[in-house]
Amino acid sequence: MSGAVPWNEARAQEIIDAHLGLEGPALPILHAIQEEFGYVPEAAVPQIAQSLNISRAEMHGVVSFYHDFRRAPAGRHVLKLCRAESCQSMGSEKIAKDFLERVKLEWGGTANDGSLTVEAVYCLGLCAHSPGALYDNEPIGRVDAEMLDELAAEARNS
Ligand code: FES
Repeated sequence: MSGAVPWNEARAQEIIDAHLGLEGPALPILHAIQEEFGYVPEAAVPQIAQSLNISRAEMHGVVSFYHDFRRAPAGRHVLKLCRAESCQSMGSEKIAKDFLERVKLEWGGTANDGSLTVEAVYCLGLCAHSPGALYDNEPIGRVDAEMLDELAAEARNS
Protein backbone atom coordinates (compact mmCIF):
# COMPACT_ATOMS: atom_id res chain seq x y z
CA MET A 1 0.00 0.00 0.00
CA SER A 2 2.72 2.46 0.81
CA GLY A 3 5.25 3.56 -1.75
CA ALA A 4 7.60 4.63 1.00
CA VAL A 5 11.31 4.46 0.28
CA PRO A 6 14.09 3.67 2.80
CA TRP A 7 15.55 6.55 4.80
CA ASN A 8 18.10 8.53 2.84
CA GLU A 9 19.66 11.66 4.32
CA ALA A 10 20.53 13.22 0.96
CA ARG A 11 16.98 12.75 -0.30
CA ALA A 12 15.65 14.22 2.94
CA GLN A 13 17.83 17.28 2.45
CA GLU A 14 16.46 17.74 -1.08
CA ILE A 15 12.94 17.64 0.35
CA ILE A 16 13.83 20.11 3.09
CA ASP A 17 15.55 22.47 0.65
CA ALA A 18 12.57 22.38 -1.70
CA HIS A 19 10.34 23.74 1.09
CA LEU A 20 12.64 26.30 2.70
CA GLY A 21 11.17 29.20 0.74
CA LEU A 22 7.70 28.61 2.16
CA GLU A 23 6.30 30.65 4.99
CA GLY A 24 6.12 28.27 7.97
CA PRO A 25 7.96 25.43 6.25
CA ALA A 26 8.13 22.99 9.20
CA LEU A 27 4.78 21.24 8.67
CA PRO A 28 5.06 21.01 4.87
CA ILE A 29 8.55 19.54 5.29
CA LEU A 30 7.34 16.97 7.84
CA HIS A 31 4.42 15.98 5.61
CA ALA A 32 6.73 15.61 2.61
CA ILE A 33 9.25 13.58 4.63
CA GLN A 34 6.48 11.26 5.83
CA GLU A 35 5.10 10.99 2.32
CA GLU A 36 8.51 9.95 1.01
CA PHE A 37 9.69 7.61 3.79
CA GLY A 38 6.37 6.55 5.29
CA TYR A 39 7.22 8.12 8.67
CA VAL A 40 9.36 10.84 10.20
CA PRO A 41 12.62 9.08 11.08
CA GLU A 42 14.41 10.16 14.25
CA ALA A 43 17.38 11.22 12.11
CA ALA A 44 15.21 13.68 10.20
CA VAL A 45 14.45 15.78 13.27
CA PRO A 46 17.92 17.33 13.83
CA GLN A 47 18.37 17.66 10.09
CA ILE A 48 15.17 19.67 9.72
CA ALA A 49 15.93 21.66 12.88
CA GLN A 50 19.33 22.64 11.57
CA SER A 51 17.92 23.67 8.19
CA LEU A 52 15.24 25.79 9.86
CA ASN A 53 17.68 27.17 12.40
CA ILE A 54 15.59 26.04 15.35
CA SER A 55 16.48 23.76 18.24
CA ARG A 56 16.03 19.99 18.10
CA ALA A 57 13.72 20.26 21.11
CA GLU A 58 11.46 22.66 19.25
CA MET A 59 11.40 20.37 16.24
CA HIS A 60 10.65 17.35 18.44
CA GLY A 61 7.82 19.38 19.96
CA VAL A 62 6.29 20.00 16.55
CA VAL A 63 6.56 16.35 15.52
CA SER A 64 5.01 15.04 18.71
CA PHE A 65 2.28 17.68 18.87
CA TYR A 66 0.66 16.61 15.61
CA HIS A 67 -0.99 13.19 15.52
CA ASP A 68 -0.37 12.99 11.78
CA PHE A 69 3.30 12.21 12.07
CA ARG A 70 4.44 8.63 12.54
CA ARG A 71 7.65 7.97 14.45
CA ALA A 72 8.06 4.47 13.05
CA PRO A 73 7.23 2.83 9.74
CA ALA A 74 3.59 1.81 9.38
CA GLY A 75 2.35 -1.69 8.68
CA ARG A 76 1.31 -2.85 5.21
CA HIS A 77 -2.14 -1.40 5.82
CA VAL A 78 -3.21 1.61 7.86
CA LEU A 79 -6.56 1.91 9.60
CA LYS A 80 -7.45 5.35 10.95
CA LEU A 81 -10.34 5.51 13.36
CA CYS A 82 -12.05 8.82 14.05
CA ARG A 83 -12.08 9.93 17.68
CA ALA A 84 -13.76 13.31 17.25
CA GLU A 85 -17.08 14.41 18.69
CA SER A 86 -19.64 13.21 16.17
CA CYS A 87 -18.08 9.77 15.99
CA GLN A 88 -17.76 9.64 19.76
CA SER A 89 -21.49 10.33 20.04
CA MET A 90 -22.05 7.24 17.88
CA GLY A 91 -19.98 4.98 20.09
CA SER A 92 -16.63 5.16 18.31
CA GLU A 93 -14.57 5.09 21.51
CA LYS A 94 -16.00 1.77 22.68
CA ILE A 95 -15.84 0.25 19.20
CA ALA A 96 -12.20 1.32 18.89
CA LYS A 97 -11.23 0.26 22.43
CA ASP A 98 -12.76 -3.20 21.99
CA PHE A 99 -11.12 -3.59 18.58
CA LEU A 100 -7.70 -2.55 19.89
CA GLU A 101 -8.07 -5.12 22.65
CA ARG A 102 -9.01 -7.84 20.16
CA VAL A 103 -6.01 -7.11 17.94
CA LYS A 104 -3.76 -6.46 20.98
CA LEU A 105 -2.66 -3.01 19.84
CA GLU A 106 -2.54 0.47 21.26
CA TRP A 107 -3.26 3.65 19.33
CA GLY A 108 -0.48 4.14 16.79
CA GLY A 109 0.62 0.51 17.16
CA THR A 110 1.48 -1.94 14.43
CA ALA A 111 0.67 -5.65 14.51
CA ASN A 112 3.69 -7.94 15.06
CA ASP A 113 3.23 -9.45 11.62
CA GLY A 114 3.41 -5.95 10.10
CA SER A 115 -0.07 -6.30 8.61
CA LEU A 116 -1.86 -3.35 10.19
CA THR A 117 -1.25 -0.02 11.91
CA VAL A 118 -4.15 1.54 13.79
CA GLU A 119 -4.13 5.31 14.22
CA ALA A 120 -6.46 7.94 15.60
CA VAL A 121 -7.78 10.79 13.51
CA TYR A 122 -9.90 13.72 14.52
CA CYS A 123 -12.76 14.19 12.05
CA LEU A 124 -12.62 12.86 8.55
CA GLY A 125 -15.55 14.91 7.30
CA LEU A 126 -17.66 11.74 7.48
CA CYS A 127 -19.72 12.92 10.44
CA ALA A 128 -23.03 12.14 8.73
CA HIS A 129 -21.87 8.52 8.57
CA SER A 130 -20.29 8.28 12.02
CA PRO A 131 -18.36 6.44 13.23
CA GLY A 132 -15.93 7.11 10.40
CA ALA A 133 -12.66 5.51 9.44
CA LEU A 134 -10.08 5.38 6.68
CA TYR A 135 -8.58 2.10 5.55
CA ASP A 136 -5.58 2.66 3.29
CA ASN A 137 -7.05 6.12 2.65
CA GLU A 138 -10.47 4.74 1.60
CA PRO A 139 -13.25 6.34 3.65
CA ILE A 140 -15.57 4.01 5.53
CA GLY A 141 -18.74 5.06 7.34
CA ARG A 142 -20.87 3.48 10.06
CA VAL A 143 -17.96 1.43 11.30
CA ASP A 144 -18.80 -1.46 13.61
CA ALA A 145 -16.95 -4.31 15.29
CA GLU A 146 -17.63 -6.81 12.53
CA MET A 147 -16.33 -4.46 9.85
CA LEU A 148 -13.13 -3.80 11.78
CA ASP A 149 -12.52 -7.51 12.31
CA GLU A 150 -12.99 -8.08 8.57
CA LEU A 151 -10.49 -5.33 7.78
CA ALA A 152 -7.94 -6.78 10.23
CA ALA A 153 -8.37 -10.21 8.61
CA GLU A 154 -8.02 -8.72 5.14
CA ALA A 155 -4.87 -6.90 6.25
CA ARG A 156 -3.37 -10.15 7.57
CA ASN A 157 -4.08 -11.94 4.30
CA SER A 158 -2.72 -9.35 1.91
S1 FES B 1 -16.29 13.44 13.87
FE1 FES B 1 -15.68 11.58 12.99
S2 FES B 1 -15.86 11.99 10.88
FE2 FES B 1 -16.36 13.89 11.78
